Amino acid sequence: MGRKRSPARHDYDLVVRGACVYDGSDAPGAVVDVGVRDGCIVAVGTVEGSAGETVDGNGLALAPGFIDVHTHDDLEVIRQPAMPAKLSQGVTTVVVGNCGISASPVRPGGGAGGGGGGGVPDPMNLLGADEEFAYPRFADYRAAVEAARPAVNVAALVGHTALRQNHMDRLDRAASKAEIAAMRAQLRESLDAGALGLSTGLAYASALQAPDSEVLALSEELDGRRHAYATHLRDEFARIVPAMEEAVAVGRHSGAPVRISHLKCAGVDNWGRSGEVLAALEHGADGHDVACDCYPYAASSSTLDLKQVTGDYDILVTWSDPHPDQGGRLLADIAADWHTTLVGAARRLQPAGAVYHCMDEADVRRILAHPLTMIGSDGLPRDPRPHPRLWGTFPRVLGHYVRDAGLFPLHTAVHKMTGLPASRFGLHDRGVIRAGMAADLVLFDPATVRDVADFHDPVQPAAGIHAVWVNGRRAYDGQAVATGRHGRFLAPR
Ligand code: ZN
Ligand code: CU
Repeated sequence: MGRKRSPARHDYDLVVRGACVYDGSDAPGAVVDVGVRDGCIVAVGTVEGSAGETVDGNGLALAPGFIDVHTHDDLEVIRQPAMPAKLSQGVTTVVVGNCGISASPVRPGGGAGGGGGGGVPDPMNLLGADEEFAYPRFADYRAAVEAARPAVNVAALVGHTALRQNHMDRLDRAASKAEIAAMRAQLRESLDAGALGLSTGLAYASALQAPDSEVLALSEELDGRRHAYATHLRDEFARIVPAMEEAVAVGRHSGAPVRISHLKCAGVDNWGRSGEVLAALEHGADGHDVACDCYPYAASSSTLDLKQVTGDYDILVTWSDPHPDQGGRLLADIAADWHTTLVGAARRLQPAGAVYHCMDEADVRRILAHPLTMIGSDGLPRDPRPHPRLWGTFPRVLGHYVRDAGLFPLHTAVHKMTGLPASRFGLHDRGVIRAGMAADLVLFDPATVRDVADFHDPVQPAAGIHAVWVNGRRAYDGQAVATGRHGRFLAPR
């Protein structure tokens, strides 16, 4: 701790001493010191020498900063670059642009507008208001992120639905040859400017009519060594297995690794099918790089989709443009008050958002525990009553599922949040605690870490996260986010 008297700099900017280090590799933790200099991890083991800051990690766990592989933070990192929802969970990198929807490249005010109103189509409205889509080229978005200097690192996929709305007059049909050529050119330009890959949201009405041939053609722009294909499957209900086969075919055709988004068995009729779904995942992963992400809740969330309205389970309305006062109420109660059907009420609430309690807990656990599963929050930062996954995903895995339920060991949980996603998304200098890696770190207490956000009170920081560093700089101290922000835009290399 002694400071050198000379103006010469310290041997280390930061040393964390005595923590149990979970290095991200799925190996059990070990008590070692970690030394950081110039934003990088430079020493792991017994670290001697002077340090600008020394942190006592005794009794705590030190892990690579968590990588949230499934986010919709595209505009949030510009709108609110302090990113408290993520830092307070230990997340240091977000992958944006999932589910076919991305903030860029989007032609402002142009395109199909989802067949009404002229604004961005559903579900792109989850990301932000029409006027926030101000990045016609991916390079413009990247420059805006770099100018905003968010507190977390950002890597960005390009959304298929965003490309469609740029080049098509309506989205309820297949793209023409000329439209596909225009989308391909825009995708290529985006990849050249640092995009991580392509995402699709084929279940949504804005992309459902895109045949697999359209996606296959676009995927030919991907360089399988650098770019990923991430997909919100065409069907998460009865036809999930064929939808997974379609996703794997895109990967095999293009050579790109496949990332199946928020893998789940949705709808009462599918409860209990996780074994079959995971067998399909393993089958796809035989001979090709296929993996998935999952959030640790038995409820999903998105826009209020008339196709998903059912009386089988609770549907919580989180927001409604025409009826904001109904946010926070069950769709069934709203329908009763209005003397109408569930679908009738859902129609009157449009556009709106919802939480669907559509999964079975046993399926969630089986998918979470699978070795091909990474953790991704799918948090919706713009929702006034967001699904608690936005603030709770990572601590919920560490606390509820690892410590309390014993679903898998802590080192495996850390691997699913760090080393696994870093290798699967080409973030080669992150996700592992090793000399030479970027110093994204989280110090937490395995005995107390837990999600505090719940469905009733969803905007609450987690407990048990003691400190977070991004690129070697303190970003969160367990109470508040730091004023300086040190995230970077991460382009594949
Ligand atoms: Zn999705
Ligand atoms: Cu999503």
